[in-house]
Amino acid sequence: MSAVKFYQGANIPLELHKVRIVQKLNLIPVERRLAAIAEAGNNTFLLKNSDVFLDMLTDSGVNAMSDRQLAAMMEADDSYAGSATFTKLENKISEIFGKKYLLPAHQGRACENIISQAFVRPGTVVPMNYHFTTSKAHVVINGGAVEELIIDEGTAVTSDHPFKGNTDTAALEALIEKHGAGKIAFVRIESGTNLIGGQPHSLANLREIRAVCDKFGVLLVYDASLLADNLHFIKTREDACKNMTIREITRAIADLTDIIYFSARKLGCARGGCICTNNEAAYMKMRELITLYEGFLTYGGMSIREIEAIAVGLDETMDEDMVSQGPQFIAFMVEELQKRGVPVITPPGGLGCHIDVSCFLPHVPQHQYPAAALAAAAYIAGGIRGMERGTMSEARDEHGNEVFAKLELLRLAMPRRVFTLSQVMYAVDRITWLHDNRALVGGLTFVEEPKLLRFFFGRLRPVSGWQAELAAKFRSDFGDSL
Ligand code: F0G
Repeated sequence: MSAVKFYQGANIPLELHKVRIVQKLNLIPVERRLAAIAEAGNNTFLLKNSDVFLDMLTDSGVNAMSDRQLAAMMEADDSYAGSATFTKLENKISEIFGKKYLLPAHQGRACENIISQAFVRPGTVVPMNYHFTTSKAHVVINGGAVEELIIDEGTAVTSDHPFKGNTDTAALEALIEKHGAGKIAFVRIESGTNLIGGQPHSLANLREIRAVCDKFGVLLVYDASLLADNLHFIKTREDACKNMTIREITRAIADLTDIIYFSARKLGCARGGCICTNNEAAYMKMRELITLYEGFLTYGGMSIREIEAIAVGLDETMDEDMVSQGPQFIAFMVEELQKRGVPVITPPGGLGCHIDVSCFLPHVPQHQYPAAALAAAAYIAGGIRGMERGTMSEARDEHGNEVFAKLELLRLAMPRRVFTLSQVMYAVDRITWLHDNRALVGGLTFVEEPKLLRFFFGRLRPVSGWQAELAAKFRSDFGDSL
């Protein structure tokens, strides 16, 4: 993609695919958007898709599939045991990652459940570059503790560090020395680190982490859910890798790991989950849990059709044009917002565009969930569904006190190959309007607060009448426009 230059110099990401199936969208009037967000308890997870114009909630399970994936789904060999489709996926995993044992699961967090149940014991520690909500929850539920060792720049909002997802390897070494290797369940490294803005790690950093794991004899578990984006960044930002192919980079990463798992709702553009390894003892430990929680070993809770689609999707992910599409659209959106003064996480990462809410809404205190408030406001302003990634996504401590997030982010995800550039420009326009009217946006407070993963089902209300005022301002600025 990056090789295509425009004669007049415009910096526009060009799609190297075309749309062949479309879905009609609804853009409902601002007055109905106001009512819909109230009905949804101000939680964008609880909005109905028919009320959403641009669904930027996530890239999970909603990436556009290819013609080849759809065709493959038609030849699925649907059998409970010994499916030929599963063998196809095993072969593809072994070709791409060089891992001979494959354990299927219905999605990424199911892989986390299996891995945590197999290796985490009460009192053990799982060091990681940064947590993901479900990965942390599974470690904690099994009695373990998470230690985050992201480099300092990782949580800096604006930076020009190319690999903000890197781990502080000196801190990793010190941590293992402090606890003793026997207390380390495993080291977990996340590709395209989600919660700090889809930020990549470098291959060089992973090599250093491997060396530390080897020194202490500790397992290295790699969450490859956001590998596609990370591959693009290693290829374009890491000098030592610029002449490597995407396949070579993938294999170099895989060879440094003991266990790889991923959500195939992200990697592979379908719906499912995979764990793979060459470690026979680890495989045997996890195998019985698959049959207990997921299904027989040749489908693991996935539809066989999806397994066909994953095999093709993984193959297509080894194409530079494919992996660069998401990051290039995200970079475009980030730069357009920056030009208009909207605070965003830099450098642009993968997964989506991340708005720095602490800077956008400095007047909304963290206990009033500013990122959730901005998510509700973005829906009112444009029918855009983003995701809160801030204090609401954290859990309270054992005394019931709020744990304030290090970063308050509104994530506007960019599912791969889904949106057109004019839709991205619409989002930029509405977010810019919201920024110009940010003084109108107020906070939220819980009406119903679930104990576990509260951001999924929690219901909130505005602390004042700010939402009606925002909708009225929209009407006066935009006339009868949707
Ligand atoms: N690991 C990472 C890095 C993820 O981003 C996700 C999911 C998972 C594991 C869990 O996978 O959803 O298939 O169970 N992230 C989604 C998101 C939910 O919207 O960021 P899953």
